[in-house]
Amino acid sequence: MAEVVFEPRNIVVTGGCGFIGSNFVRWVARNHPEVHVTVLDKLTYAGNPANIAGLPESQVELVVGDICDADLLDEVVPGHDAIVHYAAESHNDNSIADPEPFVQTNVVGTYRLLQAARRYGIRYHHISTDEVYGDLALDEPRRFEPDDPYRPSSPYSSTKASSDLLVRAWARTYGLAATISNCSNNYGPYQHVEKFIPRQVTNILCGIRPKLYGTGENVRDWIHTEDHSRAVWDILTKGRIGETYLIGADGERSNIDVLREILSLMGEPQDAFDWVRDRPGHDRRYAIDPTKLERELGWRPVHTDFAEGLAQTIEWYRTHESWWRPAKEATERRYAEQGQ
Ligand code: NAD
Ligand code: DAU
Repeated sequence: MAEVVFEPRNIVVTGGCGFIGSNFVRWVARNHPEVHVTVLDKLTYAGNPANIAGLPESQVELVVGDICDADLLDEVVPGHDAIVHYAAESHNDNSIADPEPFVQTNVVGTYRLLQAARRYGIRYHHISTDEVYGDLALDEPRRFEPDDPYRPSSPYSSTKASSDLLVRAWARTYGLAATISNCSNNYGPYQHVEKFIPRQVTNILCGIRPKLYGTGENVRDWIHTEDHSRAVWDILTKGRIGETYLIGADGERSNIDVLREILSLMGEPQDAFDWVRDRPGHDRRYAIDPTKLERELGWRPVHTDFAEGLAQTIEWYRTHESWWRPAKEATERRYAEQGQ
């Protein structure tokens, strides 16, 4: 197992009020009280300060602002020893309806952060997605590996791929001390109700029938967001500079299987859902080979029982209606307009 080579004390976490970023901030606050975290977040529709509420003020500070704002970065970044970059426009369906903010935040925003990391000579960890590799056939015996070619399908994934390429170029050309991780589909608490699992769970809680795209055969590789957070920490502190690590937990499941599991855990009949219009360009299957992360850094997922993780996630949404309710109506209205 690799030794710790970098001991951050003061980090900037962009997008720390979103789903995965806030899970990382809470994980760091719990496990590394010696580390100060400055969250830089624009608080778009997907960002919610409640996601990091209650953490010690001496350890976690929120700066509301845009990663595209170079002047703001000159105020925020100095004095920190690393940037962990989660902020993004993250939802494929939104990127199909309106790609503009995806190009701005995911590409231009990443460029501005890379320049800031360079100006202040600090570490940079880039959070990315397995979707940069495109998709696999349902019956292909292969999984994604770090050196696979980039073949993004959607406006979202193409902007994430673009941002990864910027990071690779900044590491090689300017010697920026950067690492990249590409993770599969996360689930867990604090995920926005536009995403697959929270949408179906909150639909059932609201008496709306769950909605399945296309044939329901598309496969996603699910990982609990806490396992993602631990992997990011391991890469930040022990990963080799300039390297790409894939994060996944052997969690391949078809959408229809996940939906049936939700229906059964929530006491609903197996056919109590609607088939709806498919996503244009819908990726068929994602699957991650995490061997490099496991072998080099000794990382292993802890949440290996998907049914248990799903049941806990459902329980979280059951008991946190005041968190998700304000976003639910507008989200469903937008989907209805798209025939989904
Ligand atoms: P999210 O949409 O829940 O949160 C994104 C956060 O970024 C929000 O808090 C938002 O306010 C903030 N933000 C957006 N634009 C900003 C800007 N211009 N300046 C500052 N802050 C801004 O996203 P998520 O699902 O938590 O994803 C976080 C990161 O992880 C993204 O980079 C995404 O590509 C990546 N990722 C997500 C998954 C997944 O399953 N959700 C899997 C792999 C990788
Ligand atoms: O693979 C990592 C990616 O996972 C991240 O990079 C993205 O930020 C994240 O949003 C997620 O992308 P997906 O498009 O896979 O996630 P989403 O939750 O939107 O959809 C998961 C699957 O479920 C996908 O095949 C589409 C399908 N789906 C989605 C919704 C919202 C449905 O069948 N019905 C739905 O209502």
